[in-house]
Amino acid sequence: MKALILSGGNATRLRPITYTSAKQLVPVANKPVLFHAIENVVAAGISDVGIVVGHTKEEIKAAVGDGSRWGVRVTYVEQSAPLGLAHAVLISEPFIGKDRFVLFLGDNFLKGGIRSFVEDFKAGAQNALILLTRVPNPSEMGVAVLEGDRIVRLVEKPKEPPSDLGIVGIYMFDRHIFDAARAIKPSWRNELEITDAIQYLVDKGLDVRAQVIADRWIDTGKKDDMLDVNRVVLADLERRIEGSVTGKSEITGNVVVEADAEIVDSVVRGPAIIGAHSRIVRSYVGPFTSIYHHVTIEDSEIENSIVLEHTEIRDAAGRIDTSLIGRHVRFLRSQRRPSAYSLMLGDHSQVELP
Ligand code: TTP
Repeated sequence: MKALILSGGNATRLRPITYTSAKQLVPVANKPVLFHAIENVVAAGISDVGIVVGHTKEEIKAAVGDGSRWGVRVTYVEQSAPLGLAHAVLISEPFIGKDRFVLFLGDNFLKGGIRSFVEDFKAGAQNALILLTRVPNPSEMGVAVLEGDRIVRLVEKPKEPPSDLGIVGIYMFDRHIFDAARAIKPSWRNELEITDAIQYLVDKGLDVRAQVIADRWIDTGKKDDMLDVNRVVLADLERRIEGSVTGKSEITGNVVVEADAEIVDSVVRGPAIIGAHSRIVRSYVGPFTSIYHHVTIEDSEIENSIVLEHTEIRDAAGRIDTSLIGRHVRFLRSQRRPSAYSLMLGDHSQVELP
């Protein structure tokens, strides 16, 4: 078995963060969401990993490297434009060859990993295995109709959902998927849709099975989903204090303070992680917060949030909650009069004031 992880795309729903950075590299619990996907694949015993990259290819390649960190071989497949998931599969045919493979969307998160599904599919004779999950909002995603464990129909964003079984961004295929991707036509949004390719397999009478997962699955395309994954990963955090904790500081619960981080006269309530070389001074960092490296937080309160590297937060008037704050952001309090908001926000920024 091989793995194909998709890390191209436009990531419009995560702007402005994604104007300057790949969404798959947003750190959850201080580790890029893409690394969680790679670790899932590695834990399933796969050592040949293809990564499809788009306009953020240099950044992804610099972060992932050749895969030796995980003991696997990584091959990059460059996609000239985000022309759809089935297009990404199609251009990866030279890498996959005749092997069976797992297709993993690089911004998707599955708590329990994929090991048992990979083992099933590797040993079986099915042409495809599609993971499904029961969702409260089936009209917003791809939905499957089953007969037993066989898929008979797939519908994209149905107005009247035929089931509540949403299609998870993790699929297993054999080489027939390449014929399907070649045969289908682009959709209204000019993408080769993976659901159309799977429907083609079904229509050709191939053996397309489904498994309904029990574990938590999250598609991290939007801010609140990213914070959700952050919460799920932090919930399993184990306490580890490597940096310094001084003054009247209080660290409770499962907190990680990475090497060379400093906590001074502050309260940190876990689960939370403070990255290397970050400084938390006279502040409160509450549960489900990930502070990446080289961040400064002074005289402020924050919880349920992700803060990226080299950001500075000082004298925040109210508590910062459910926020995703990018790199090199300066969030300060001005002493000047008039007392007013003074902002420099990039395109598609979002500010919600109490
Ligand atoms: P999506 O989240 O469906 O698309 P997107 O990344 O373009 O985001 P948005 O809708 O916010 O503009 O993509 C799912 C995953 O697949 C993600 O990791 C990006 C990747 N992808 C590719 O590698 N190539 C593609 O052609 C597309 C559409 C997505």
